[in-house]
Amino acid sequence: MAIILPDLPYAYDALEPYIDAETMHLHHDKHHQTYVNNANAALEKHPEIGEDLEALLADVESIPADIRQALINNGGGHLNHALFWELMTPEKTAPSAELAAAIDATFGSFEEFQAAFTAVATTRFGSGWAWLVVNKEGKLEVTSTANQDTPISEGKKPILGLDVWEHAYYVKYRNVRPDYIKAFFSVINWNKVDELYAAAK
Ligand SMILES: [Fe+2]
Repeated sequence: MAIILPDLPYAYDALEPYIDAETMHLHHDKHHQTYVNNANAALEKHPEIGEDLEALLADVESIPADIRQALINNGGGHLNHALFWELMTPEKTAPSAELAAAIDATFGSFEEFQAAFTAVATTRFGSGWAWLVVNKEGKLEVTSTANQDTPISEGKKPILGLDVWEHAYYVKYRNVRPDYIKAFFSVINWNKVDELYAAAK
């Protein structure tokens, strides 16, 4: 067994004009494939630990030291991207009444949630991710991680994530990360976020 690159759940051009087809090809076929290849190369050195990346990254100290950083980077890269593709859709969706109420209770309103998420996505220095997570207290929280670190390693369950590495937006949006973040809100798959929220809380 090995980790396999999942197919996109839609066509490469399905998220146009918000996310362009060229970016989706490069991002999925090249960047994500590289994380998969490198994660498999690391896992092959220690077949005794299995391939359950979520379990391994939930307890990074359990990962053998010689492959720990490689799995944080590439196992995390695989998990983050596999989730990211599922979190977007060309279909029009909206948060469930339950999730919408939780967002309102936590952030004040959907607009304030979007502003908080946009702020962490904009200000994440260098490469990383912006997240909406369910934290250890079972509450919604907006946070960000560097590089390919996953919130799972902090005991948090990601229910929405945005890749803010330059490879995710530079082809279309060049240096203007805020325009990419705004566009992302037009393609969020709230049905998937609802599903993850129901499972996480
Ligand atoms: Fe990426």
